[in-house]
This record gives sequence, structure tokens and C-alpha cells, in this order.
Amino acid sequence: MTVHQYVEFGDKLGTIMPYPDERYRHPEHPGVFVSSNVKGRTMGMARSGYFWHTDLSFKPKPQPLTVLYPQLLPQAKRETLFINMADVYDALPAALRSIVDGRTAKHDPAMRYKVGQADVDANLDLGELLERGRRMFPAPTHPLVITHPATGRRILYMNSGFTTSIDGLPHEDSQAALEELFAFIERPEHVQPHSWELGDIIAWDNRMLIHKAGYMAPGDFQTIFRLGIDDLVPFYEGIAA
Ligand SMILES: [Fe+2]
Repeated sequence: MTVHQYVEFGDKLGTIMPYPDERYRHPEHPGVFVSSNVKGRTMGMARSGYFWHTDLSFKPKPQPLTVLYPQLLPQAKRETLFINMADVYDALPAALRSIVDGRTAKHDPAMRYKVGQADVDANLDLGELLERGRRMFPAPTHPLVITHPATGRRILYMNSGFTTSIDGLPHEDSQAALEELFAFIERPEHVQPHSWELGDIIAWDNRMLIHKAGYMAPGDFQTIFRLGIDDLVPFYEGIAA
């Protein structure tokens, strides 16, 4: 599939959502997000998604579907790891379930911003960078348990990459609860890896799955084309489509 055909394929799944940070966009196809560490090619950004997250959970209306299509893979095994958060919700011990049921949490990407050359050239200090980030993405809240709009399944909606506090709890209690919840969520038995081969295309529902990039050795190179798709169904029950 050429990049043009890939975009046409994405258009059939819904509406392509160009990534808000323009530095990640393909120069000729702005709807395509490029994760690449190939040197000497000014396309996209390196080291994306190496922590557990859901794509764009830090937007008031997150990105429903993600599609990944690797263009270049290292010789060594290359994985993307997934956790099914509907299964995790079903398995949640009662004490943890009582924390998340009926509560909302804040999703703040500020600490995940990648400082680029332009930021260095502008001579911004860390406080100014954080402030600017918070203006761009004012850290919305989402329910900690969402209901899937098509299946009605209850899903734990949080991730250690972006979920920074639980609303309505004192700061220390919120941090302790998050730590306990993330330790449960990220248990090895919950993790399902996908081992990539060239030619693979994977699409998934961000309502159900959190994910992260697997380990890549220094000196290995990859290029992955990603599409964010709005499937035009509300992200969860109670949010506008
Ligand atoms: Fe991601």
C-alpha cells in the first residue's frame, strides 16, 4: 500500500484526525502521524509511545481508533504491547473498584512533551514550557469507568502516561490510589504483545485498549505510519459524538 492508498483506507474507516502536534505529521500527508528515528530524514518524531497510554486521552474528545502500518522495522523483534481494560475492570479487586466507580480523573500530557530544537532556540525554561503545554492541552477529565457505546461493556479508562490525578480525593490519597491501580493494571499477565512483521496493519479501539511501544535497542531503526480515526460514534456514553 502506498501512503496515498493508506490514507484512502483510513478515510473508509471514518474521519482521519490529524495529530495536534504538527511536528509528528507526514510532510505531504498531514493526516499521517510518523514515528521514526531514521537519521537524516526529517519526518515525524522518534521515541513515541514508550509509556502506557491511550492515544489522545488528554483531549476532551479522545481519538477513537488507531491504525499502525510499519514501513521499516529493525532486524530484532519489535513489539507493541496491549492491555484490554474491559478485562482489567472485570478483574479489579473490590477495594480498587470502589475507588474508580463514579469518579473522574485528569489526563495531562505536559510531562510527556518532547522538547525540540525550536524550544531550545527560544530559550524557554521548564516552567514556561509546561505553562505553554497546559495552555495547548488544558488537561480534561474523563470518567474512570466508561461504558462502550456499541457493546455496553464497562471499561477502566486510565493510563499511567497521562492520568495524573483522581478528582475529589486529597492529593496524597489520589497519588497512592493511582499507584495501586497502575500496579494492578500493568501486571505481566494482563499484557498482550503484538510482534510486528512488515506488511502488518493493525487497527484498534482506544476505548478498550491501552498500549505502549516495546523495547527497541539503541542503534535500531524504525518508521511507522499511524492514522487516528474518528469512527463518529461517541467515545463513551455521555460524551458528545
Ligand atoms: Fe500510541
